[in-house]
Amino acid sequence: MKHTITLIPGDGIGPEVSSAVVKILETAGLDVEWESHLAGVLAVERHGTTLPAELLDSIRRNKVALKGPVTTPVGGGFTSVNVGLRKALDLFANLRPVWNIPSVPSRYEGVDLVIVRENTEDLYAGLEHEVVPGVVESLKIITEEASTRVAKFAFEYARKHGRKRVTAIHKANIMKMGDGLFLKTVKKVGLSYPDILCDDRIVDAVCMHLVMNPTQFDVLVLPNLYGDIVSDLCAGLVGGLGVVPGANLGVEIGVFEAVHGSAPDIAGKGLANPTALLLSALLMLRHIDEGPMADRIMAALGSVLAEDGIRTRDLGGSASTIEYTEAICRRLR
Ligand code: NAI
Repeated sequence: MKHTITLIPGDGIGPEVSSAVVKILETAGLDVEWESHLAGVLAVERHGTTLPAELLDSIRRNKVALKGPVTTPVGGGFTSVNVGLRKALDLFANLRPVWNIPSVPSRYEGVDLVIVRENTEDLYAGLEHEVVPGVVESLKIITEEASTRVAKFAFEYARKHGRKRVTAIHKANIMKMGDGLFLKTVKKVGLSYPDILCDDRIVDAVCMHLVMNPTQFDVLVLPNLYGDIVSDLCAGLVGGLGVVPGANLGVEIGVFEAVHGSAPDIAGKGLANPTALLLSALLMLRHIDEGPMADRIMAALGSVLAEDGIRTRDLGGSASTIEYTEAICRRLR
């Protein structure tokens, strides 16, 4: 089947890793037309906005996008393209499966957990104002509606993928109302899924437990800020940001992207590891019913890492982005 997919190459290492992934998907035989669009600072130069209407229209039409990282200036400047995209398209769930990739050095073995992060509210609602000079108020928004839909997403995901447990992460002992509402809502949704154990952990405690024994966890569902932090912690459990995929999902639309950023320190040097974006693309292939192709690419990737011993510098190897990509393509031909 022919697919039309929106492609956001991004900036920094984005164009390097996205062209690597496009090449691998096409070598695997994906019948695809890419609609490529700028976002972020590059889009501002050409379109005067970080999220051009053509880009949003393209994703709304195609329902699926592959996105490279986009730089967000710290402090001033424009607001995050990633946050803007999630809001504009109502991509309410951020999915990050975290598992050990064969032969990728990591501190733990047997990690296989899934982070489901609420993507639209909490402190990321962007509601901040200066009350008086020197005092800023940032509003943390938790709603029953957003908590319900992300909880349903987590339980449905667990059921579909044969997972047995959903753990709600919160700080309801301190934020009794906001996090209390999130926790209460997840528990309520959990009542409709008697086949799945629903429990909860306080966010600081779960960080310790993840570091001590990550294999005990299955699906974690978190409000936005904790989800952001805990998902990077989890990436660190299995080898770092270079090997963890992600997806932002709404009712109909899926935007698939790596967890890492635009890595300006290595951009343009041929050092970027495309694995995380490739793994995100494999999530995308499963989403568009191309599961067997995803399996084939995963096998090729595993062979390159484990048997060929070819890896990029961040994983202790010496291959350039292009050499690594070519090695995966060779395994697919
Ligand atoms: P980063 O993830 O870009 O880089 C952190 C470190 O990891 C750097 O040393 C970098 O060289 C390395 N690294 C990251 N990805 C790599 C890869 N694929 N291969 C090899 N090494 C890799 O995080 P940082 O520096 O905090 O953020 C840089 C920019 O990216 C910021 O403007 C940030 O806002 C943006 N960002 C964008 C994201 C997105 O578009 N989804 C997500 C996270 C950050």
